[in-house]
Amino acid sequence: MTVKSCIDAAMLHARLAALARIGAIEGGGCARLALTDEDKAGRDLVVGWMRELGLEVTIDSIGNVFGLRRGKEAGPPVMTGSHIDTVRTGGRYDGNYGVLAGLEVCRALDAGGIVTRHPLCVAFFTNEEGARFQPDMMGSLVHAGGLTLQEGWAATDTAGVRLGDELVRIGYRGPAAPGTIRPRAYVELHIEQGPVLEEAGVTIGVVTGVQGISWHEFVVTGVSAHAGTTPMRLRHDAGYVAAASAAFVRQLVDEMGGAQVGTVGVCELRPNLINVIANHARFSVDLRNTDEQLLQAAERRVFAFIEETAAAEGVAVSRRRLARFEPVEFDPAIIDRVGRIAQAQGRSTMRLPSGAGHDAQMMARLCPAGMIFVPSAKGLSHNVAEYTAPADLEAGAAVLLDVLLELAEE
Ligand code: GLV
Ligand code: MN
Ligand code: MN
Repeated sequence: MTVKSCIDAAMLHARLAALARIGAIEGGGCARLALTDEDKAGRDLVVGWMRELGLEVTIDSIGNVFGLRRGKEAGPPVMTGSHIDTVRTGGRYDGNYGVLAGLEVCRALDAGGIVTRHPLCVAFFTNEEGARFQPDMMGSLVHAGGLTLQEGWAATDTAGVRLGDELVRIGYRGPAAPGTIRPRAYVELHIEQGPVLEEAGVTIGVVTGVQGISWHEFVVTGVSAHAGTTPMRLRHDAGYVAAASAAFVRQLVDEMGGAQVGTVGVCELRPNLINVIANHARFSVDLRNTDEQLLQAAERRVFAFIEETAAAEGVAVSRRRLARFEPVEFDPAIIDRVGRIAQAQGRSTMRLPSGAGHDAQMMARLCPAGMIFVPSAKGLSHNVAEYTAPADLEAGAAVLLDVLLELAEE
């Protein structure tokens, strides 16, 4: 069997397009924040496809969905998957591609009359994005035992809505206990979401690991006063502390260089009026590095700056940790396997770490795990203009097919 030819690119593209119509937003992107009505509609569509493919669907109580394809032998499956939630201004490939490529692998195996030795499982995990509820990668984290079900259910969005209530509302608080399905191996296919593969002219990224992630929220409480009459020496300006902190994050990251990145993606002022000094600021700091020691050093410098600046301004500041994950290295044998199989298919490859967080980093706590990347045009992701060329999508799916097939036959 020439496995490559088994991938039906038209089918993969049609499913990607159909899923992208749910929560479609201007510019070709998607808004399917975790556990919204749009997420539910996307889930229903994908679960329907799983059932059409004869997969046995299991939903656990954090809302993770698993589609099992039986093997000749019972026992732990080889798992693939990703997520179908998006950020509010997301693209159509992030996460969705990996899940739908997993379904396409199952369809291709059916078409080839192949029953693998071990079962295969295609999963999508709840709230990978973390854009509505934190931490990110929540479903896979709960699955891996890194967060309790109760902690996951208790997460609230900015309107105070509980994740556990939303799961019930959309009908996805399933009966299975999280972590029940423990795979033999986990391999996730994803778009790169950065510029490395495109700039190198390489089709397949062999992912070595995922960088460490630090998410914190700061709330600054100052005093509102008149913007024209209040002398600078009498101000307690929450907005100033937020702005100075955002500028410091950028300055620090530029100074550190290397793999360090930093982002202030949320900054909310109250009362948010031109002539009123802000008495409230809420802002986020996202720091990432492949080196845990350097990430900790960046955290210390940012925390110290914010505390010192707040003290000098005479405002109160509180810090809340939203997510914190150390860098993860993927299984060397899976990394080698992905590279070997991609090269055997005649594809150009390079090894690289992931800049984004992924469910695979949580699954790596449970079993040998790895990832396959395909290029992202202009390195854009978390943007409606996110794009990967059809030929690259097909190439990634073909590599995934052979990797899963090999793992499932061993
Ligand atoms: C998840 O997509 C993240 O890396 O922020
Ligand atoms: Mn993703
Ligand atoms: Mn994402």
